[in-house]
Amino acid sequence: MAIVIPVPLVAGFSHRSGKAHIVRVSDREIRAHNGRVGELCLQIARQLGMTASEQRVLARSGLLHDIGKLALPGSILHKHDPLDDSEWKLMKTHPEVGLKILQWAGHFERALLAVLHHHERMDGSGYPHGLVGDAIPIEARVVAVADMYDVLTSDRPYQRARSEQEARRLLKEEAGPHLDPVIVSALIASLDAQRPRAPRASTSPYFGGRRRLR
Ligand SMILES: [Fe+2]
Repeated sequence: MAIVIPVPLVAGFSHRSGKAHIVRVSDREIRAHNGRVGELCLQIARQLGMTASEQRVLARSGLLHDIGKLALPGSILHKHDPLDDSEWKLMKTHPEVGLKILQWAGHFERALLAVLHHHERMDGSGYPHGLVGDAIPIEARVVAVADMYDVLTSDRPYQRARSEQEARRLLKEEAGPHLDPVIVSALIASLDAQRPRAPRASTSPYFGGRRRLR
């Protein structure tokens, strides 16, 4: 059953009480990131030739993937320095917390697989379950690619945004060991398709050489 939750109003989860509650997604950065990742997921889904309903699932997967971060303190979310071990431990809980938030809010759809598994990596080095290759749900593999691209091309508290070219290079490096290479290729093809095309040399005798129509 698909339930539309209004964004920015969503369910939240308190680490302290262990209880879910309704919160407002007031963190502008998380909201903007989730929105961009949702859009990128949609582009990838279209590029992969997915059906309209699969595209909707992918868009929602991107939109919801980091919802578990709402339970993290701002001191971690906005920290300029690298996270220490205990902060990383807390950060790595956000996929499972996100799953609990959405289940509590009545969501039982495939987008939940992306929420739980978007930090899994193809070689099994990811979290929370260390899934390998195709065992990682397709929704999560798509979000992982879109997420990395958006993180690389956005200003973050701990790093400046990279150029699009640099982001593409880094994505290609990650394709295989960490990211699904088919999905990386789909994102790059989609980005290429959006680029304004350079005017091509005309084969018309009227537009070649010195002869031009006025
Ligand atoms: Fe995440």
